[in-house]
Amino acid sequence: MLHKTLKDFPKNFFWGASTSAYQVEGAWDKDGKGPSVIDIAPVVPGTTDFKVTSDHYHHYKEDVKLFAELGLKAYRFSIAWTRIFPHGTGEINPLGVAFYNNLINELKAHNIEPIVTIYHFDLPYALQQKGGWSNRATVDAFAFYCETLFELYGDRVKYWLTINEQNMMILHGDAIGTKSVSGENPVKDLYQQNHHMLLAQAKAMKACHEILPHAKIGPAPNISAIYPASSKPEDVLAASNCSSIRNWLYLDMAVYGRYNNIAWSFLEERNATPDIEEGDMEIMASAKPDFIAFNYYSTQTVAASAGDASDVGSTGDQQIVVGEIGVYKGASNPNLGKNDFGWEIDPVGFRNTLREIYERYALPLIVTENGLGAFDKVEADGSINDDYRINYLQAHIDQIQLAITDGVEVFGFCPWSAIDLVSTHQGCSKRYGFIHVNRDEFDLKDMKRSKKKSFFWYNALIAKNGAK
Ligand code: BG6
Repeated sequence: MLHKTLKDFPKNFFWGASTSAYQVEGAWDKDGKGPSVIDIAPVVPGTTDFKVTSDHYHHYKEDVKLFAELGLKAYRFSIAWTRIFPHGTGEINPLGVAFYNNLINELKAHNIEPIVTIYHFDLPYALQQKGGWSNRATVDAFAFYCETLFELYGDRVKYWLTINEQNMMILHGDAIGTKSVSGENPVKDLYQQNHHMLLAQAKAMKACHEILPHAKIGPAPNISAIYPASSKPEDVLAASNCSSIRNWLYLDMAVYGRYNNIAWSFLEERNATPDIEEGDMEIMASAKPDFIAFNYYSTQTVAASAGDASDVGSTGDQQIVVGEIGVYKGASNPNLGKNDFGWEIDPVGFRNTLREIYERYALPLIVTENGLGAFDKVEADGSINDDYRINYLQAHIDQIQLAITDGVEVFGFCPWSAIDLVSTHQGCSKRYGFIHVNRDEFDLKDMKRSKKKSFFWYNALIAKNGAK
């Protein structure tokens, strides 16, 4: 649809930015923090580990001051479960509690709205040793952790996100470093874990509404519109399969409390439907999100399955389709360019995605990640001219405005990432931030913060509430 007049961004739009605890904080074993699965996972050769990252734990005051200078209205960050409960449950760690109290207070003092992700990939290792998400006890540990956070920080935190990219942990847990499955039917084990996470999320949403009646909570999956590789009906069917398995399985459960029928049929085909205990579906049906948060980097394109091993590509990650035998096969989209890491760039697909989610669920949307990973170059005078990042973000922001004009309710945009941090599996040379951190893959240097060109651009854009 071509619009003659564009609607403005809403008055109190959350122009924000995002990070996650394990990718930015460092201090992986400081002040009583317990290990998470990320701390224990093998490091991808040639890339740094997650022990120090951007050392935000020790730099948070300076960082929040920079976020305020950037003009952020909101900051989306995650709480490291093992700072609060080093063993996942049981004894609380007062120093970990204090860190987030300080961070939240600092944000509030600078008029930045904290948006808290409860769990961003870093499951406590102590829980993993007892079976992780395969063990139903982890659902209760998560519910208890959530209730604790609501009690501790709910007087200042109004916006909560349950689980970051549960769909990517299920589909690309290998790349992210979170996958651990066992048993005779690993697919069943995986989707049993998925069921437990969905149940845990439902419990979190219910507890949030009970404990904090004025707070708002929602899921935070990675959602991409899925294109068929051609107009062949078989390709269109494959796209529908992929969309149900990648996107709607997660949001249908979060919003409607039911399993998506196509995803369920896929699980039946693999003898992998999860065991559902009495009462589970009632809990899922009675838990309601207030909004949908989602991360968007690109769209995906798929073709009809060939019905054999050729459906499965050799590698994949959050934005690169692996393929499922008999269901769909990954394809590339000849109409799109790619970033340095092979991720397709599709701003118009962002509008498609926003429209599709809103039309399906009619809940307010907030974008909790979007951004460009790139190899930034520091010039001799110290400047970083990341025009490619500015172009990427501006093109995506333009599409949000078009989606708003289409009638989609969007209340915030939190690009990835506020500050440079360590990527999930491609090290810290893959940079995303508005703020540069002076370190490289293996040399920690002085961690000095400096403003990239995109910092000044985003600051000016926020000041005009996105108007040109
Ligand atoms: C999302 C994750 O999948 O994408 C983030 O929520 C991640 O944790 C981001 O960092 C970018 O991906 P990557 O693999 O480049 O770090």
